[in-house]
Amino acid sequence: ARVRHYKFNIVARNVTKLCSTKPIVTVNGQFPGPTLYAREGDTVLVKVVNHVKYNVTIHWHGVRQLRTGWNDGPAYITQCPIQPRQSFVYNFTLTGQRGTLLWHAHILWLRATVHGAIVILPKLGVSYPFPKPDKEEVIVLGEWWKSDVEAMVDQSTKVGLPPNVSDSHTINGHTGPLASCPSFQGGADGYRLQVDTGKRYLLRIINAALNEDLFVKIAGHQLTVVEVDAVYTKPFKTDTIFIAPGQTTNVLLTTDKRAGTYLITVSPFMDVPIPVNNRTTTATLHYNNSLAATALTTTKPPAQNATPIATSYLDSLRSLNSKEYPALVPQNVDHSLFFTIGVGVNPCPSCLNGSRVVGVMNNISFVMPTVALLQAHYYNISGIYTADFPGRPIFAYNYSGPGPKNLQTMNGTRLYQLPYNSSVQIVLQDTGVISPESHPIHLHGFNFFAVGKGLGNYNPASDPANFNLVDPVERNTMSVPTGGWTAIRFKADNPGVWFLHCHFEVHTTWGLKMAFIVENGKGPEESILPPPKDLPKC
Ligand code: C2O
Repeated sequence: ARVRHYKFNIVARNVTKLCSTKPIVTVNGQFPGPTLYAREGDTVLVKVVNHVKYNVTIHWHGVRQLRTGWNDGPAYITQCPIQPRQSFVYNFTLTGQRGTLLWHAHILWLRATVHGAIVILPKLGVSYPFPKPDKEEVIVLGEWWKSDVEAMVDQSTKVGLPPNVSDSHTINGHTGPLASCPSFQGGADGYRLQVDTGKRYLLRIINAALNEDLFVKIAGHQLTVVEVDAVYTKPFKTDTIFIAPGQTTNVLLTTDKRAGTYLITVSPFMDVPIPVNNRTTTATLHYNNSLAATALTTTKPPAQNATPIATSYLDSLRSLNSKEYPALVPQNVDHSLFFTIGVGVNPCPSCLNGSRVVGVMNNISFVMPTVALLQAHYYNISGIYTADFPGRPIFAYNYSGPGPKNLQTMNGTRLYQLPYNSSVQIVLQDTGVISPESHPIHLHGFNFFAVGKGLGNYNPASDPANFNLVDPVERNTMSVPTGGWTAIRFKADNPGVWFLHCHFEVHTTWGLKMAFIVENGKGPEESILPPPKDLPKC
């Protein structure tokens, strides 16, 4: 195993897209930021130097951070932010993971432009459990607003309104055409994937968008899914990838055409009945030996509300569960939790209508502390949080169908304590109180197995009988279906404080989040390591 050094300079840069220029926050001036390459077992040191006016942190999304929670990155959860002109060295080891993940800023909405890929190759001499690709490509999907993204945070919190829909998706930084931007050169400015005939490509696809689930399609080509969230899957063929913010998907693409140009579409998924957002960003797959003026083979992206396509894609995902890569699904449960997730309304005297929209889990809208929770936990600082997050909703009601729709919510910085090494099950029930929407729920510090899902109310008497405890998909971010539920299981084998939240940035901002404390065990092996010397102070 090697030690890999990276330097991330957080710098502002003027960028022109869609015919307008604005300053954005970047890593090393790049959008998307640099790809972090390492092998399984390597130790990675990233020195982050803050040259902008904002406080900054970086999260290594999906990296387990075994006993190194100080390096996880969510602001005020595991660390105080890196202030302007300050620096911090993130230091972590990639244990037992290989595949594609992403890194992103974890404060304000900076991750709109501060994000990039993490590529963890297998250990030297170890091959992939699928046919060896001839070439690999990283494809980072994002969103672009012509206006200032940080101004939208105020709109979402102070005024309590949803943020503006982005003006375009981005594919490795390239936007799509915009009607109001006449100088845009059609596909010429878009992302282009150059390929040779008769080769196998591994595409590492990352959804780094703030607020949108995405469909990805390539005209005339099937894709074979082989890995999600840095866990190998049973390979399956599909013509459409469904990917939520924070998720990563590796697919094999066989270039079986002699020549030509094929349309790639990236389009949003939102399972509301009325399409509200049908922006598609296009790119092209281009065969190298094609003549200059080759005809474009097109494809139609799924409709914005094509729920069956998203559902059947998710139903096809299974852990590889081979001898080398077994699915270690907890068969028994020590802590059985039931969390409602959704969006409610809180009084807000300073807001336009006297109330504002809030994100809630078990009726609690999470309030960010001013001291990092991990520090408060480690040093026993009282008054920062309470360890009384309810294991069930406070106000019971009928989540779907007729019945009381309880909009009551309360604020709090409440955490749930899990004994080290306990087996945990959480049923995440979407309550869809105000706007029904699926929620990509992300757990820090662990992978989980998505053992079951369904529509309507979860039934504890009958639903567990249908759980897949053999080869359920293992990942770190999973969509909870609109008006339905998802059951996840994991082993709490990582001491620390770990964030659980919706990976739609707007919902996190509204409070759709909570955190677990995984209590230090008795022996040193079961405890979090001491904090790094340069850990930022609040
Ligand atoms: Cu990728 Cu807490 O986030």
